[in-house]
Amino acid sequence: MMLQQLVQRIEGLHQLDSACHATAAWVARATRPRAVKNALSGNWLGHPLHPALTDLPIGAWAMATLVDVTCGPAGAAASRRLVGAGLIAALPTAAAGASDWSDSYGPEQRAGFVHAVSNATATVLQAGSWAARRRGQHATGMALSGAGLGLTLAAAYLGGHLSFVRGVGVNHAAFQDTVGDWTDVAAVTDLGDGTPLRVTAGGVPVVLVRENDSLYALSATCTHAGGPLDEGTLEGEGCLRCPWHGSVFRLADGSVVRGPASVAAPRWEVRADDGRLFVRSVPA
Ligand code: FES
Repeated sequence: MMLQQLVQRIEGLHQLDSACHATAAWVARATRPRAVKNALSGNWLGHPLHPALTDLPIGAWAMATLVDVTCGPAGAAASRRLVGAGLIAALPTAAAGASDWSDSYGPEQRAGFVHAVSNATATVLQAGSWAARRRGQHATGMALSGAGLGLTLAAAYLGGHLSFVRGVGVNHAAFQDTVGDWTDVAAVTDLGDGTPLRVTAGGVPVVLVRENDSLYALSATCTHAGGPLDEGTLEGEGCLRCPWHGSVFRLADGSVVRGPASVAAPRWEVRADDGRLFVRSVPA
């Protein structure tokens, strides 16, 4: 309960907003190239990259402290290597996290900022630990590693809150029903060429697109953070851009062409019959 109250206080720290906005704008500029955004968002992996990478520095630093505690100076070489491995792994982990964070707002952005600052401080402590160990100051190295690990675990708690309480980074189309039967959703004349149309099938919002006499249908809820794809814009190459953070999905198969989305948009079959449009889910 105390932890939750602390997190709520962090989320309400409006004093952080100017630093958050300036940092997020800088990160957004740095990750604007499609190749950079895709590499860091994890759409090549099929889910967000940052949570997967966090295991590496946390694991390495936790094992370093375990070796420190159980082996003492006899484990000095092993624990120094583990601290160093954690430092190397922290770089891509931080880059992926910063990219994800730059697309957040409000309470999530403030909590994410504190998460990042805590992790950066922990990394500095681990770097100091590695340097102390190199100089043969094992006790100092142990103390710095222990402090750094404690800070990392506190930051991990905030990260867990962002994912599992706030839903940052989860697939926002994950719990939608599938509709196996062809469902009448609109008149053919309702769908203009090149203008996305929002319809509903079995309670699930679907976006229809007609382009060059071809019909396409995707779930209208963006997998990244739930943005309305029917309010997005059509791009060349048969793609639809989400209006919220600019994820681009291929209309033909829902695949992610540009992050931050990392999960493909659920695809629907669509057909015209007797002046009406029908859709049904494509089995996953
Ligand atoms: S909601 Fe973020 S890109 Fe669509």
